[in-house]
Amino acid sequence: MGDALRIGIVGAGHIGGTAAKLFVGAGHQVTVSNSRGPESLASLVASLGPKARAAIPPEAIRFGDVVLLAVPWRRKEELPAADLFTGKIAIDAMNAYSAVGRVEDLGEGTSSEEVAKRMPKARLVKAFNTMGWKTLETGSRPKGEDRLAIFLAGDDREAKSVVAKLIEEIGFAAIDTGSLREGGRRQQPGSPIYGRPLTAPQARDILR
Ligand SMILES: NC(=O)c1ccc[n+]([C@@H]2O[C@H](COP(=O)([O-])OP(=O)(O)OC[C@H]3O[C@@H](n4cnc5c(N)ncnc54)[C@H](OP(=O)(O)O)[C@@H]3O)[C@@H](O)[C@H]2O)c1
Repeated sequence: MGDALRIGIVGAGHIGGTAAKLFVGAGHQVTVSNSRGPESLASLVASLGPKARAAIPPEAIRFGDVVLLAVPWRRKEELPAADLFTGKIAIDAMNAYSAVGRVEDLGEGTSSEEVAKRMPKARLVKAFNTMGWKTLETGSRPKGEDRLAIFLAGDDREAKSVVAKLIEEIGFAAIDTGSLREGGRRQQPGSPIYGRPLTAPQARDILR
C-alpha cells in the first residue's frame, strides 16, 4: 500500500459510495458529501469505519488532495465554487446524461472538457466513467490476476499517475485512454469500452 491520500467525494450514491468503500479499504481517508447533508450519510460513514467522515461538499473538497466528482451530470452546475478546486486533482466520473437518460449532444467537445471549463484550475482526470457501480463493487481482484480495466484520461500527467496508482490500489488495471479530449471521447457513453467489464488485455485490444 502506498502513501495514504485524503480523498473528498462529492456525490455519495452508487458510484461515490462504492468508491469510498474501495478507497478506505486501500488505506485512504475519505470525506463524503451529498446534497442532503452529512446526517443523511451517517449509515454510510458508520459502514466505512474510522477513516471516513461526512461533510458538506465545500468541506469535502477542502479536505481532499484528490476529489471525486460523482453527482448526476445535470446537477454539475450546483457543484461548489471553482476556486475551491484550485490545484486539486479532480476525478470526473460523471457521464453526460439528461434527466430522462438521454446522452447530451456536446458537439465536438466532451463532457470532461465541459467540467474543466467549470473548474479551470483543477487538475482534472476523467476516470470511473465506463464501469457500472455493481462491477466496481464486486470486480476488484488481487495483483497478478486478470484485473478489470478502469480507464482514465487527462492532460496532466502527474495527476493521471496519482489516479492510476489509486485505481491499482483498489484492485483494478488502470488504462490510460489519452488526453481529456481524445481519451475522454473514448470513454463516453456509446463507445466500445463503455459499460462492458473488460480485462486489461481485452481493453487494450479494443483501444488499439
Ligand atoms: N451508476 C453507475 O453505475 C455509474 C457508473 C459510472 C459513472 N456514473 C456517473 O456517476 C455519477 C453519479 O451516478 P450514481 O449512479 O452514483 O448516482 P446516484 O446513486 O443517484 O448518486 C448521486 C449522488 O450525487 C449527490 N448529489 C446530487 N446533487 C448534488 C449536489 N448538487 N451536490 C452534492 N451532491 C449531489 C446525491 O446526493 P443526494 O441524494 O443527497 O441528492 C447522491 O449522493 C453520474 O454522473 C453518473 O453518470 C455512474
